[in-house]
Amino acid sequence: MIISINKKSQTPVFIQIKEKVKELIGGRILRNGDPLPTTRALSEKLGVHRNTVISAYKALEAEGYVYSHVGRGTFVVAPGTTSMDDKIAFHNVFDWAHQISEKLRQRISPKLLELYQTDATKPPISFVWNQKSLLDFPAQKIQRAVNSVLRNRKDLIFNYANPVGNFDLRLIISNRMRLKEIRVLPENIMIVSGAQQGIDLLGRLLLEPGDTVVVENPTYTGALSSFQFLQARIIGIPVDEWGMKVELLEEILKKYHPKFIFTIPTFHNPTGTTMRKDRREKIVSLAMKHKIPIIEDDYASDLRYSGVELPTLKALDTSDQVIYVGTFSKVLIPGLRVGWIAASERIIGPLAELKRLSDLCTSPFIQSVAAEFYERGYMASHLRFLKRQYLRRLQVIVRAVHQYFPPETIFYRPEGGIYLWVILPRPIDLNKVLERSQKRGVTFSIGNLFYLDDKGSDRMRLQFSLDDEEKIDEGLKIIGEEIKKPSIRG
Ligand SMILES: Cc1ncc(COP(=O)(O)O)c(C=O)c1O
Repeated sequence: MIISINKKSQTPVFIQIKEKVKELIGGRILRNGDPLPTTRALSEKLGVHRNTVISAYKALEAEGYVYSHVGRGTFVVAPGTTSMDDKIAFHNVFDWAHQISEKLRQRISPKLLELYQTDATKPPISFVWNQKSLLDFPAQKIQRAVNSVLRNRKDLIFNYANPVGNFDLRLIISNRMRLKEIRVLPENIMIVSGAQQGIDLLGRLLLEPGDTVVVENPTYTGALSSFQFLQARIIGIPVDEWGMKVELLEEILKKYHPKFIFTIPTFHNPTGTTMRKDRREKIVSLAMKHKIPIIEDDYASDLRYSGVELPTLKALDTSDQVIYVGTFSKVLIPGLRVGWIAASERIIGPLAELKRLSDLCTSPFIQSVAAEFYERGYMASHLRFLKRQYLRRLQVIVRAVHQYFPPETIFYRPEGGIYLWVILPRPIDLNKVLERSQKRGVTFSIGNLFYLDDKGSDRMRLQFSLDDEEKIDEGLKIIGEEIKKPSIRG
């Protein structure tokens, strides 16, 4: 069980233990019936008096999170499982928590898991990515594409497919990329089950444990988790309103010679910023000079509402050194799980082998549906629709931040994408704001989720694409009220 305490904290240690156990239960790392360590073992491990652990376990029992059985130990009672039958069944459950590889156990963040839960109790107003409302899904058009594929493409959809992906879809993607002046052919494209799988496979392709990678700090948590799991050493470069501070890059490249640079130059997650053109040129030329690959995560550049379109790093690449990752998640549906990697043909073969190891292939049925969606011309009209919707929501959220948040609040107005990054005047306890907002039915992400270090606890990422304007306004009003309460400010 991963429990750490801070003896210097003003919060009593038994409360810290209690809260950690609750987090582990909330994050489903501790499951119904799992045994807690004995009070003796945990007190020795943490270097605290045994009575402290006993008090923590008693407090947990009083709150209904655990069940003690004299002579047998203390067991987790997950929320919603209170019957005596469940409790009696606990005694001999297998201790799975200790079977999970140490490498993975170290990585699991209860806070992240909690955020991704999408059960029926989810808050009705969400600024967190995984809980997209059904507002914007082109259900009918997808239905038509599905019907057509079922009628006409039985040859493709009922079997396993080539791990590199459906040729028609790769052709569509490469043609679309060529319109953006990116020199790719279908041979350069591999379909993946979402950009996240693409990033993870690229990490597996390129990294040995202990290798260094460079990322923006803050950055997309999915990439951080993958690289950390692969035991990479991660160096973060700060971001300002023009994206990664590329002027800091050369020193780092010289000093650490990283395996690759991972960057999200357009509508960066989480800050919403877009890398300026001169910085784009600089990062590509530095990568060429130092012979370091770039992984460009271009998850949302089609969602531009203002400003001019900038060349992707892949378009600026003249040495086949940039690996591009794209996805349909933000422009169509995350649940489709279709994305792609565009890269040198020389790495597509090894990547296809990794893909085969991971899941044999991305669902050929779903790939054909995505291809059909394009071929019917639905994508262009759907994109126009989404951009209109999201621009309105961006306008509403910006107005609401001005109206409801303290006047010293800072934010970068994004030119596109789905994230607004808000920096609040210090001192502030955003954990408390989040907890109270969630009680009032609103959720958001605290900035420190996205940082490599302990920064970011004074900022929040608000995904504004998920709810309609009325809910965005209502949600921000609630968060703003919580922020302004005197008990929140240190
Ligand atoms: C920057 C970035 N990259 C990749 C992903 C993952 O996308 P997918 O759903 O295609 O796996 C996300 C999802 O939010 C993201 O924000």
